[in-house]
Amino acid sequence: MMEPVLIPRPAELALGSGYLKVNHRSAVVADAESHAAATLLVSLLPPVAGGPRPVVPARGRPGPDTITLVVDGTRSDLGSEGYELRATSKRATVTGSDWRGVLWGVQTVCQLLAADAGPTASLPAVTIRDRPRFAWRGLHLDVVRHFFPVAFIERLLDLMALYKLNTFHWHLTDDQGWRIEIRSRPRLTEVGSHRGATPLPHDRYQSDGTPYRGHYTQDQIRQVVAYAAARGITVVPEIEMPGHALAALASYPELGCRGSGYEVATSWGIKSEVLCAGRESTFAFLEEVLSEVLELFPSRFIHVGGDECPKQSWRGCRHCQERRAAEGLRDEDELQSWFIRRIGTWLTARGRRLVGWDEILEGGLAPGATVMSWRGIDGGVTAASAGHDVVMSPNSHCYFDYYQSRDTADEPPAIGGHLPLRQVYDFEPIAPAIGAARAAHVLGVQGNVWTEYIPSEEQVEYMAFPRALALAEVGWTPAARRSAAGFEERLRAQRPLLDDLGVNYRPWEPG
Ligand code: ACM
Ligand code: ZN
Repeated sequence: MMEPVLIPRPAELALGSGYLKVNHRSAVVADAESHAAATLLVSLLPPVAGGPRPVVPARGRPGPDTITLVVDGTRSDLGSEGYELRATSKRATVTGSDWRGVLWGVQTVCQLLAADAGPTASLPAVTIRDRPRFAWRGLHLDVVRHFFPVAFIERLLDLMALYKLNTFHWHLTDDQGWRIEIRSRPRLTEVGSHRGATPLPHDRYQSDGTPYRGHYTQDQIRQVVAYAAARGITVVPEIEMPGHALAALASYPELGCRGSGYEVATSWGIKSEVLCAGRESTFAFLEEVLSEVLELFPSRFIHVGGDECPKQSWRGCRHCQERRAAEGLRDEDELQSWFIRRIGTWLTARGRRLVGWDEILEGGLAPGATVMSWRGIDGGVTAASAGHDVVMSPNSHCYFDYYQSRDTADEPPAIGGHLPLRQVYDFEPIAPAIGAARAAHVLGVQGNVWTEYIPSEEQVEYMAFPRALALAEVGWTPAARRSAAGFEERLRAQRPLLDDLGVNYRPWEPG
């Protein structure tokens, strides 16, 4: 018989014989730690498998026709987020080394059930022992350039979970809008969440002339964070600093070197106005914002942006130059480094860790900071060599806003580039230059969906899928078990499931 068509491909899989039929008689049994996973499983069971049913508490030996979920802390052999699925024709058991492992096992069960096209849902008899290669398997979404409602974020989280992606990087602030309610700073949403117009998708120099707005309330943020957690996903918020901050400056002009005259951006590209690094009020502001962010997001990692920060306003600013002199900094790169280090120290004192785009390396990197390598892999190599943790998200392999075909005439307008599915699949996060000794510093991989040219939910799906499935396998599957041909076959088998879920994936070409 053929290997079940799972994405990502499991670390170990052995087929048995026969099938376990899952129908209205089948019980879902769970211990206390797996109750949430069992509730999720029940909600995901296809109608053919009997639809919703109660979760039964685990007692003694599981009976026939049951799917049992347990967390077994003694199964350290399974590794962090690891699970074992044992299915026979009589029963199935998912054992997780931790609660996340059980959740990933549940997703495996769902993919196996979905792959059974028959009139009853059935699981093949199988033993799977599985664990992720990397701890950070991320997908990023820019909700600034275009805003996406909570219902869509939750749909994206469902799709991430299905493919065992565990980190949602939520790009919440930028030049073109501020999208998170901050109670101590109401103007961020009263003013900063609005822009006067948006460039037209096919001509960035033409404006659509239509006001645009959107933000998430704190209650909505909590809802998303809880929804993600129930699926094993951590939400990493990004608050951009010191650049990409025009929406904040428009709301509180005293945060800028010039002190007045800012507007939420109505064009794309890098803006020269950035947060003033000299004034104390900038740091008071950021600490107030981040205090609320820490209350909303339990994530250990907090993303502070740090990319694309022009320094000309700092060069001409008395406050910035006084700061530079007082701190003994040679130049503005070192001033940015000092800025990020100060925020990193503040986060560390609160038990969190700073992550930023690879520009945070310029001028020296704060101890403990994690680098997200986006301008190729060099930032990641440099950071790992210096003993920093890194997340690999190079625009060469992980930018899902790039074109998926050279034949761009038939594609929706995109920001440029050429990043076909195969190139995502072929990405190796541990670059040879990192070397075995530093390999553990590579926390993982992430795909980025910047939305300048992506105004709709359908288009996010078109750009992210199926590339996110290739990335999911890069992040999860042992390198030795990856193969492009195998992936292509398994991807084809995912199609009915993606169709059932109504995912607007881009049709892919073989090879
Ligand atoms: C980035 O793409 N500016 C991180
Ligand atoms: Zn300044």
